[in-house]
Amino acid sequence: MSTTTRPLVIGNWKMNLDFVESVHLGQQIGVLLKNKPAEHTDVVVVPPFVDIRSVSSIVTSERIPVAVGAQHVNPNENGAHTGEISTSMLKRLNVSWVLVGHSERRSMYAMDDAVVASTLRATVRSGLQGVLCVGENSAVRDADGQGAFVQGQLESALEGLDEKFREQVTVAYEPIWAIGTGATASSEQISAMTTFIRQALRRLEMTDTRVLYGGSVNADNASSIISEGGVDGFLVGGASLKAESFCAVIQACNDCYAGKR
Ligand code: PGA
Repeated sequence: MSTTTRPLVIGNWKMNLDFVESVHLGQQIGVLLKNKPAEHTDVVVVPPFVDIRSVSSIVTSERIPVAVGAQHVNPNENGAHTGEISTSMLKRLNVSWVLVGHSERRSMYAMDDAVVASTLRATVRSGLQGVLCVGENSAVRDADGQGAFVQGQLESALEGLDEKFREQVTVAYEPIWAIGTGATASSEQISAMTTFIRQALRRLEMTDTRVLYGGSVNADNASSIISEGGVDGFLVGGASLKAESFCAVIQACNDCYAGKR
């Protein structure tokens, strides 16, 4: 992790937890963060759409120091898009972050690079922070093609983006073979890809962009990855569904940042 960048930890709850369970988890995270504040770390929780309103309400009313995100958004402003949600609907619910192009959406819901690019554009233009998710599958990794693959994803999403919106972008490197599998990428693999991604971002004059890692991050591996992997934080799936493990990941980032300053 760089010494000057505040770490960011995002909990992606995916299609888990109904609104009652989501509120409960949000409150538990609030209690843990009050007992042990993570003052150097930005935290975002990303519930399913139908839970957002409830989670936003308790975050505001109980002053829980987390922002609320959405797992996806439709790039259109409104209209005949059955089943979809717009940026303005999210903003009305105090959502400030959106995951864009998560590999599950790319692979299962036909989100190609062009749709990822238009979704990222719509997200940042509306004033929301976009988390651009990139990462290769195991076949690409086995052929040692991860660099070119991720570079292609970055370029197609970012090259057409107006410069004034680029500071609203965070990049999450999530190798698909590490997501939900327990097979975390090694710190060396993460560090190599983070360095590569930062070079690509530098060419786009995005030197301050935070680069996160996601893929089976948990309470046990977060400390070593944050100190050795060259990342600015994490996008956490499974381990974000329990307040204890999610807050342990947050504390690992917070301690690393505090220790290095
Ligand atoms: P995981 O998911 O932590 O369960 O591997 C990460 C993600 O998909 O964002």
